[in-house]
Amino acid sequence: YTKKVDELKSKIKSFPDFPKEGILFWDIFSALSDGHTCKLLQSLLVETIRNKYPDVEAVVGLESRGFLFSFSVAAELGIACLPIRKKGKLPGEVLSYKYDLEYGSDILEIQKDSIRPGLKCLIIDDLIATGGSIAAAAKLLRTCKANVIGTLVIIELTGLNGRRNIPEAIHVHSLITYD
Ligand code: PRP
Ligand code: MG
Repeated sequence: YTKKVDELKSKIKSFPDFPKEGILFWDIFSALSDGHTCKLLQSLLVETIRNKYPDVEAVVGLESRGFLFSFSVAAELGIACLPIRKKGKLPGEVLSYKYDLEYGSDILEIQKDSIRPGLKCLIIDDLIATGGSIAAAAKLLRTCKANVIGTLVIIELTGLNGRRNIPEAIHVHSLITYD
């Protein structure tokens, strides 16, 4: 496991001053440009879910980078893949939550009918920076009475202490950390 994580880590590139000065951008797509690493990442995510969240009934991916990984694991595990999207993208009745990003702010939405009370959900995204996106997603899911069993991300920027902003009851698992 550790060897696989180290290999994945070696494939992720960072870009200083993107998209704004002072931001170091960790580009998950840089790890997806060869098929071997795609397969490696997929197996790490699936293995982690099987070990840590065996009861999960639905993965909830955060637009947009989170969608890549929520669908790939849902398809392999045969569980639901549900979207949380930015404002105005989802049809039907939606619930909204405003949140702060590492750069700027945004509004997340979920389709009210996509969640039944007690549904065991795992939030999936590429990265935790300030933790604002994950915290907002967790709060949205709770307003739908979902059972948020945890969060799985590939990268956690521990220097920003995003976990501080995520409700304590929500278990957070990251494959890779950067200071
Ligand atoms: C990035 C990243 C996470 C979020 C992390 O998404 O993919 O979703 O920011 O930041 P936070 O922990 O401070 O909330 P972004 O909103 O840039 O959009 P994208 O996924 O569509 O590229
Ligand atoms: Mg994102």
